[in-house]
Amino acid sequence: MKNKATKPAIRIGLCGFGVVGQGVYKHLGQRSAELASRLATAFEICAVAVRDTEKKREVDVPAGLISGDAMAVATDPTIQVVCELMGGTTLAREVVLAALARGKIVVTANKALLCEHGAEVFAAARKGGGHVFFEASVAGGIPIIKALREGLVANRFRRIYGILNGTCNYILTRMEREGASYDEILADAKRLGYAEADESLDVDGWDTAHKAAILAFLAHGRWVKTDEMRVEGIRRLTQSDITFARTFDYRIKLLAVIDRNFETGDLAVSVQPTLVPNRLVLANVNEVYNGVCVVGDVVGTTLYIGRGAGQDATASAVISDIVDAVTLLSGARGPLIPDEAPSIVAGGRGVKIASPRTVLGRYYLRLTVRDQPGVLAQVANVMAGNHVSIASVLQRESAVERAASLILTTHDTNEKAIQQTVLGLKSSPSVIDEPVLLPIADFAD
Ligand code: NAP
Ligand code: HSE
Repeated sequence: MKNKATKPAIRIGLCGFGVVGQGVYKHLGQRSAELASRLATAFEICAVAVRDTEKKREVDVPAGLISGDAMAVATDPTIQVVCELMGGTTLAREVVLAALARGKIVVTANKALLCEHGAEVFAAARKGGGHVFFEASVAGGIPIIKALREGLVANRFRRIYGILNGTCNYILTRMEREGASYDEILADAKRLGYAEADESLDVDGWDTAHKAAILAFLAHGRWVKTDEMRVEGIRRLTQSDITFARTFDYRIKLLAVIDRNFETGDLAVSVQPTLVPNRLVLANVNEVYNGVCVVGDVVGTTLYIGRGAGQDATASAVISDIVDAVTLLSGARGPLIPDEAPSIVAGGRGVKIASPRTVLGRYYLRLTVRDQPGVLAQVANVMAGNHVSIASVLQRESAVERAASLILTTHDTNEKAIQQTVLGLKSSPSVIDEPVLLPIADFAD
């Protein structure tokens, strides 16, 4: 895979071509033209290391790129960016250190590696003159590393807490909704590519602890070891715990909490199944989604939600790191801003402003109407005349004498049709006040 641009191609090696590696290869291929137009620098995935070179993969890759030797890819002098997507802390550590010793840029999704060997990895990057990018290591597709490192850099963080493991959240959500068995749901999480190769990392809380350690390091500059945290997983939870929690208006979530007391200096990190009041947004972060709440002393409370595991969400984060690596290597002087005119989107079409006829949505309409026979029919006629279909109707007495409030919701319609409907209603003698029109945001996702 190679994209078109003017500068010499930057060469990337993938070490690992499982759930995440294949996602990165697939999506990077699909976004190649778009990224080339933004980066003005070509990049090329020129090697893919795996354990089993004969294995049939869902994503095709030219046979010539496949290697059984991750260390050879990491040390290849022509490769500038090494993506470690294998997992584990043995070979992964060696590969990352070898690449950094040669001044390369490493992109990794490996939270276990960073939690256990982060100090060594970052020291190697400093010594060798390379860099380490690790957006995918915490909270899947949520750009929480960038948020802490860049967007919230003005802040000191009194508390960071959240749901950091997609597999556990998926299991807890389905146990609550369906009463399905733990083993059955865990098998689904594996099939969907959410779970770690060693599932105990997920369900016993260690994966969350690794991620919490990374966030704590970014926020407070201290690596907290897992034996300095209280770590408990979800194995011992039963359907009764989930049901009892619901009775008291709580949901059980596997929560990481990073607390810092700036007066005493104390830093406390814990991972525990926790009762979260239903009124909090985090209680309603379900399935594979993660949610991270960051309390900064300047910004106040900020909240980040998104898919925390799985091929596509993770690939999104890894690709953002690859783009940062390519940007750095290309000598760009600032962050990427798309060119205004030639921006190419997937499918090769340019951007144009949508016509009001193509913008679809549902609407809420409140009318103050004369309280007399035939009014509802007149309103319905105006709507039908503009091909707007009514989803529901409610009539209430109005504060205005001899008037009623008529509240309607529509099915999907276009903006042009609903605006014409409003015009038609305004000119109707039955409608005695300015109609109130509000869009309904029942987006599917
Ligand atoms: P995976 O599906 O098990 O893939 C691992 C890949 O590494 C496979 O292609 C495997 O080769 C290769 N590999 C393993 N040992 C190797 C060796 N000795 N030499 C060369 N290649 C080797 O794992 P994954 O889900 O993609 O996860 C990869 C990393 O991303 C892990 O650190 C994980 O924690 C992290 N991560 C995963 C997710 C997710 O949702 N899955 C999300 C965020 C972060 P074969 O295919 O030949 O076995
Ligand atoms: N196994 C991890 C999870 C993958 O379920 O959250 C994402 O880090």
